[in-house]
This record gives sequence, structure tokens and C-alpha cells, in this order.
Amino acid sequence: MRVVLYTGKGGVGKTSIAASHALRSAGQGLRTVILSTDSAHSLSDCFDLGLGNEPRLIAPNLWGQELNIYQEIDKRFYQERRWGEAADYLRELARWLGMEEVVAEEVMVLPGVEEVSNLLYIRNYTEGVYKGNYDVIVVDCAPTGETLRLLSLPETFRWWMEKVYPFFKRATLWSRPVLKSTSHLPLPGEAKRFTKLPLPSDEVFRVGEEIFEEFRRVASLLTDPRLTSVRLVLTPEKMVIDESRRTFTYLNLYGYLVDAIILNRLIPQEGSGEYFRRWRENQEVNVQKIGEYFSPLPILSSHLLPCEVVGKEMIEMLGREVFSELDPDQFFFQRKTQEIYKLDGYYTLSLTLPLVDRGNLSLKRDGEEIIAQVGCIRRNILLPAFLSSLEIENARLDGDRLDIKFKRRQK
Ligand SMILES: Nc1ncnc2c1ncn2[C@@H]1O[C@H](COP(=O)(O)OP(=O)(O)O)[C@@H](O)[C@H]1O
Ligand SMILES: [Mg+2]
Repeated sequence: MRVVLYTGKGGVGKTSIAASHALRSAGQGLRTVILSTDSAHSLSDCFDLGLGNEPRLIAPNLWGQELNIYQEIDKRFYQERRWGEAADYLRELARWLGMEEVVAEEVMVLPGVEEVSNLLYIRNYTEGVYKGNYDVIVVDCAPTGETLRLLSLPETFRWWMEKVYPFFKRATLWSRPVLKSTSHLPLPGEAKRFTKLPLPSDEVFRVGEEIFEEFRRVASLLTDPRLTSVRLVLTPEKMVIDESRRTFTYLNLYGYLVDAIILNRLIPQEGSGEYFRRWRENQEVNVQKIGEYFSPLPILSSHLLPCEVVGKEMIEMLGREVFSELDPDQFFFQRKTQEIYKLDGYYTLSLTLPLVDRGNLSLKRDGEEIIAQVGCIRRNILLPAFLSSLEIENARLDGDRLDIKFKRRQK
């Protein structure tokens, strides 16, 4: 089985390229499913047919699915009653906070919850109801910012579950009898209100743990470099590049294997005329920079096609542009290009450099950027926020790895 995620800023071509991958994969005889986790579903528009909550056969060997969050919630919370008590608790808590009943229902579909729920759905293909049905899972993800937060959620969630949750659980065990025993006392307004705070039951905690376990499993699936890779789609425009660099840094930070950069909507030389000349020149400059920012990852690219990518014919045309003769299911790059680890209180940023032309190492620091040059190879790395305030202690080349060690934070 193979899982490929497509992410990038809104409008760059994630859906179209994910569709062209899926169609090609199915054409090679592999049972392929394409799932959209973006709440602004546009797979249906791209294939020009209706997709819904169940996988629908849209071409030989190809199934498409656009989840409906309300149907999923209904299934989990009410029909199966698996999480029923937790749903009741959330509603009770919302009421206590002074929310209307209808709003309480909406609380369960806060921004982001939909994409998380859709990501969790991937487990249905790997372990759940559709286990064994598909060889390739292509995921059309939500735009950069959102997907990123969601992808980092398992990590954040783990921290909460390990650090805060046991404390909360103990506090609840302790406060339940206390609150019960004090509730009959004459208390001033606020305190009285507090005693009515609905406390989660053991069942609610059990559901919390179950959800955490699902997160953990999906996270380990999506960060397994033998199974999953992420492709970052971008267009050669400054604002798109800036956002994509940030995404790239964080994808690396959270341990996802990015195996290719896909550069979309290049303006062709021929036929684009004087009007697009400056666009073309601007794109050429940006393409050069993209090489520096994302090397050694392979960069696949596509031109701006003569019309929108709607329907199978156009999707196939885009597929030929992007992948030409290549198999879209392969890993275009096998290793994580950047890793950050902490050893004895020091953070180290470890980079993969291609094995060519050893030379002197020079490092330049410019705020949150590091420019590393080894011989004629230049890498320009955007640091995650927590490293950008730390000084560099030293840097060392070891085979094809460059390790940059940061000083400890000054107390
Ligand atoms: N290479 C291309 N040439 C022409 N139109 C494209 C190309 N790539 C994407 N499009 C069109 O651009 C719009 C946005 O693409 P889409 O795949 O929906 O982006 P995203 O999923 O990243 O928001 C769609 O109308 C799509 O048909
Ligand atoms: Mg899309």
C-alpha cells in the first residue's frame, strides 16, 4: 500500500495534480482511491461528477470520495453510539457555558475539526471497513496553513495527553466528590455556578483516550517513510514560495517525508507573447530560487494549460506534464531532507546535501534564514520559530549530512 499527500497554498493546483496522479495510478492497474480532506471539496468539480460520503467508482480501478462531516458525526456519535456519552457531555458543557442548543451541535464542527476528522478517516482504508480494498491512497489536503496545523496535531495532542491530561483526570477524580459535598452549601453566585460545572464521566475520558489513540495511529501512518510521502505543490510566485518554504520547514520538523516539489502553472515560452513576457521573466528568477530552497528534492513541473483542468482528458494532460514517463507512486526521494533533534539540551538541525563536489563549508545567518554553502552547492533554509532566536554553536559535515548545532537558550 502507498499513501501520497498533496498540499500547498490555496489555488496552486493540489486537487488537479492529485487527480492526475490518481488517474495515472489507476491506469497502471492499481486500485486507487482519491480522498479530499479539504473542507472546500473540489474533486467533484475536477472530475466533473458528483462524489459523496462513500467511495464511488469513477474510472476503471479509481474511486473518489468527498466526506460529509455531518454524516460522519452522525454515524459515530448517534448511530453507532460509540461516542454518544461524550457528545452528550459536550452538549451539557456548551449549555453550561451559556451556548444555545443549536450552537452546541456546531461546536463539534469547529474550523479544522472537519479536516482532522477527514484525516482520521484514512484509517478506514488501512485498518477499517475498506482495509485491503486499495493499493494507493491519494489525499488532496487542505491548504497549507490548515493542513499544517492538522498534521502537527498528533504531536500537540500527545503533549497534552501526556502532560495535561493525567493532571486533569486526577483533578476531576478529586473534585467530583468535593463538588458534590459542597453543592448543598450556601455559596455566593459565581461559586454556586462553578459547582454546576458538568464533570466528565469515566466514559468521556475513555472516548478521549480512544480519539487520542486514533490520532497516534494516523500520525504514525502518515510519518512512516516506507509508506507515506508528501508533495508540496507551488507556483513560481513570491507569495506562494514564501508560504511553501514555511510549510516545508514545518513538514520536516514534524517528521513527514517530502519526496518532491511540484511546480505548477509555468508560463510557456511559445505563444505567450509580449503581454506575458514580464511574468515569464519573473517566473524564471523564482524557479532558480526554488532550486536553492528545496534542493536536493526533485522538482516536477507543469505548464499553465490552455484551459481549466476539468474532466478526464484535461486531468490526463496535466498528468503527462507533471510526471511525463515517471510512475507517480514511486518515492521520488527516499530520505528526510531536514531533521531536528535535541541532544544533551542542544538542538541540532541535520541537513542532507547531495554527494557532489566537496568544498569548504561556509555558513551565513540572516535572521530566521541560514545560507549554507559547500563547494558549489548552496542551501537556503528557513528555520522554525523556536530555533530562529538561537545562536549557532558549530557546524559539521559528516558524509552527506550537515549538522548545525545551536547554542542553548541564555537564561
Ligand atoms: N497547470 C494548470 N493549467 C491550467 N489550469 C490549472 C492548472 N493547474 C490548476 N489549474 C486550475 O486552477 C484552478 C485551481 O486548481 P486546483 O487544483 O483546484 O487548486 P487547489 O486544489 O490547490 O486549490 C482550477 O480551476 C484548475 O482547473
Ligand atoms: Mg483543492
